[in-house]
Amino acid sequence: MKLGYVQAGAGPVLLLVHGFPLDRRIWSGQLGGLSDKRQVVTPDLRGRGLSPAPGQVPWSIDTHAADLADTIEFLQCAPVDLAGLSMGGYVAFALMRSRPELIRSLVLVSTRAAEDPPEYKTGREMTAERAERFGTRALAESMIEKLLAPSTSEQVRQAVLAMMDSVPGITSANDSLAMRDRADATSMLGSIAVPVLVVEGTQEALLPAGTAQAMASAIPGARLASIPAAGHFAPIENPAGFNEAVQEFLAPAGR
Ligand code: MLT
Repeated sequence: MKLGYVQAGAGPVLLLVHGFPLDRRIWSGQLGGLSDKRQVVTPDLRGRGLSPAPGQVPWSIDTHAADLADTIEFLQCAPVDLAGLSMGGYVAFALMRSRPELIRSLVLVSTRAAEDPPEYKTGREMTAERAERFGTRALAESMIEKLLAPSTSEQVRQAVLAMMDSVPGITSANDSLAMRDRADATSMLGSIAVPVLVVEGTQEALLPAGTAQAMASAIPGARLASIPAAGHFAPIENPAGFNEAVQEFLAPAGR
């Protein structure tokens, strides 16, 4: 499936993949902020925003990766610089596993390589059920405190809540089950052969402490950037800090 997207700029493609339960607008500060040397492409994963609702449910993280591959092929822009935020990072790992030739560098934002521990999997099922019955908004209200840094503005908080509210409940339910079933990517970290930047917010409260550091240490040559005044959603909480880290990473010749 070719995904709907919004893009800005020209040059090699920087593809930005959003997290859960979000859409492309989590990257609105990157469209202008990173488009001086890149064509910034922000797709909506299937079932929300500009992307069609799928004919068949359920889907998997691998399905999202296959949609990205189709979109990259449609744009004829391979290999791309690929950034994935949280669930988008799980999708990036899946694309790296299935189609490594499409990726020339990787930015892993507020994400982790490990699969869900068994006790977490039940929580995914409860989340899916809640999303399907009451809509994504029901998830948003219980998640938001853990996602954003205390210093994040009310305006950003409202924008994130509205974004979540717009994602159909069935889409969030499918994503939750897809995350439950995702493959563990820990064993592939040591063999990632493209340049990697790992990004964390200094106020991250959703992922266990040390997740980003451990992942960066396990990937040969990976760099770690810690973004101040940001929790789980650094691209929208501190766009200037996030963009600066990514620009520095992409700056060397040939990247
Ligand atoms: C996300 O931000 O995409 C999700 O919180 C990831 C997760 O629940 O594992």
